[in-house]
Amino acid sequence: MVIGVMVTDALKKRVEKLREEIEYHNYRYYILDQPDISDAQYDRMMRELEKLEEEHPELRSLNSATQRIGAPPLEAFEIVRRTLPMLSLSNAFDENEARDFDKRVKKFLASSEDIIYVAEPKLDGLAVELVYEGGRLMVGSTRGDGVNGENITQNLRTIKTIPLQLVRKEVPVPERLEVRGEVIIQIEKFKALNRKRKEMGDLLFANPRNAAAGSVRQLDSKVTRDRPLEIYCYGVGEVRGRNFQTHCDILQTLPKWGLRTNPHFRRCRNIDEVLEYYHEMNEKRESLPYEIDGIVIKVDRIDLQTRLGEISRSPRWALAFKFAPKQETTRISDIVVQVGRTGALTPVAVMEPVRVGGVEVSRATLHNQDEIDRLDVRVGDTVTIQRAGDVIPEVVEVIASKRTGREKKFRIPSTCPVCGAEVIKEEVIYRCIGLDCPAQLKGRIKHFASKRAMDIDGLGIKLIDQLVDKGLIKDIADIYYIKKEELIELERMADKSARNIIDAIEKSKTKPLGKFLFALGILHVGETTADDLASHFLRLEDFFHLTEEDLKEVEGVGPEVSASVVQFFRDKKNRESIERLKKAGIKLIEPKAKEKGKLAGKNFVFTGTLKSYGRDESRNLVESLGGVTTSSVSKKVDFVVVGEDPGSKADKARELGIKILSEEEFKKMTG
Ligand code: IVH
Repeated sequence: MVIGVMVTDALKKRVEKLREEIEYHNYRYYILDQPDISDAQYDRMMRELEKLEEEHPELRSLNSATQRIGAPPLEAFEIVRRTLPMLSLSNAFDENEARDFDKRVKKFLASSEDIIYVAEPKLDGLAVELVYEGGRLMVGSTRGDGVNGENITQNLRTIKTIPLQLVRKEVPVPERLEVRGEVIIQIEKFKALNRKRKEMGDLLFANPRNAAAGSVRQLDSKVTRDRPLEIYCYGVGEVRGRNFQTHCDILQTLPKWGLRTNPHFRRCRNIDEVLEYYHEMNEKRESLPYEIDGIVIKVDRIDLQTRLGEISRSPRWALAFKFAPKQETTRISDIVVQVGRTGALTPVAVMEPVRVGGVEVSRATLHNQDEIDRLDVRVGDTVTIQRAGDVIPEVVEVIASKRTGREKKFRIPSTCPVCGAEVIKEEVIYRCIGLDCPAQLKGRIKHFASKRAMDIDGLGIKLIDQLVDKGLIKDIADIYYIKKEELIELERMADKSARNIIDAIEKSKTKPLGKFLFALGILHVGETTADDLASHFLRLEDFFHLTEEDLKEVEGVGPEVSASVVQFFRDKKNRESIERLKKAGIKLIEPKAKEKGKLAGKNFVFTGTLKSYGRDESRNLVESLGGVTTSSVSKKVDFVVVGEDPGSKADKARELGIKILSEEEFKKMTG
């Protein structure tokens, strides 16, 4: 018995050590950006930890790096009541107001000396608090009303930049640490997320902030896990076991515990230096990968912060100094209709030019007729517009008080403004059904040539306009039949540019099948779906005979996509077009077939410990042979592999009459 306990003790130490090491390497990777071990070494540690936890469930802990996988969905969030409220910030919108803040601080402290401030970016995301006790993450919550937040611990645990355990290498960890920060999504990741959602027909997030907030407040943490969230910490609440003298000290110490702070903060010796920082950050703003909406100015010395205290839920020692808003007001001078490649009619507001977040805009999308009706937007209206995560500007609201009575209501026309064909309504979308609509053709070519599709450099909208208007391109396949001489005839086309375009067209001929399918612009087939279709069917030829039944087998492809794919490849014009593309020399790289292994179509469940395989190892083995593994026993399961100390799964298998394999039998089957 004593020996047993000793073994468990040693194991426990090993598990703890692994967890600590993994957290330390996360810190090197995510915070220092200086990993000092290879991915393979990291994976090995993770696998060892997983294996030990699998074998010794009593050693499992939510604070293990293996547990960033999401937990069972919640019914509702619990409320977390905090002792030190999360305050909000008072705002300044211009230099005078920022200087007034400096004056107020000095007056309150009865001091004429310069105050040292720390200035830092004001990140546009969602405020959260993390509580660490003895270095372990205990609770994570939203700000809520400041005192009462929502317990979102299991969601925050899925975010890789949030350490589950603090790093103890350099600085001892405090007994209790409440740390506060902003959870954000980077702009590019936000755009990719929205692209994916569009493909899936999900509602789009208006901006990265909404995407971050929506993702963090999910009842199902598995949804949160799949969102590209990250954190920057910017302050602390209650801290027991460590005294901070300055805010700078906090910002410099947190990273040593593995808590990421934003690297763009600056210690400023007076308000003038703060203002200088403000202008620098305003310039830098567009080049940062995430959105910031201003800077936050904080008195550096904590003792002064304490003396200053708070007033009406905002600290007297801090101020948000906002950048010029990305929202602006302007007047709509016209509403025009754009016809896209799928024939969808999009109403676009033409506005008096206005600068929004540093960029001049004169058009904003109104999305569709429903949106126009919802906003009750009319030609002549004064409106608020916004640019979110540098996506296309949109109209947010009408300023009704500016109405003169001369505004004109707008309705999407019943015929296509470009080709005159009939327009039909499909749910919220109005669509031109003209077969030869030049606007659709231009849109299709633009899409076909775009970077993520065939990537034809230089074939931009201006050139496309000319090519279509002159009748040189009547179908996407015509791109590959253009001659240099024809290009030179066009406006502003020198010999060299014509040559470059011909070269780019030639170069685009070899493409992976997935990209080509995406380029064809099949309705509802985005990049991911196109790749999925390519890896499932492998050859372009097969697409001509597909039925909706065949498409059911492709994971993630629903009836809407299936119908659209089948219809596309049945269409005579599309078939001819693809034929001509092939004749022109399009070469498609076909994905490699996944080997049909000997376990193809077989479903496995493992229970108990196998002597010769780790948990992942046995699963990988099955998958590499074409089989699938699941965690629970149901009628769909073909084999249950039973190791030592099996759980109830073995009983259930017997009950359902499912074939049970011993480790030896499994070895034989796979060997
Ligand atoms: S300090 C008492 N620092 O801005 C200090 N806040 O209204 C309170 N925010 O909800 C916050 N970046 O989510 C601070 N560097 C930063 C910040 C920041 C963004 C957010 C925070 C808070 C809001 C303040």
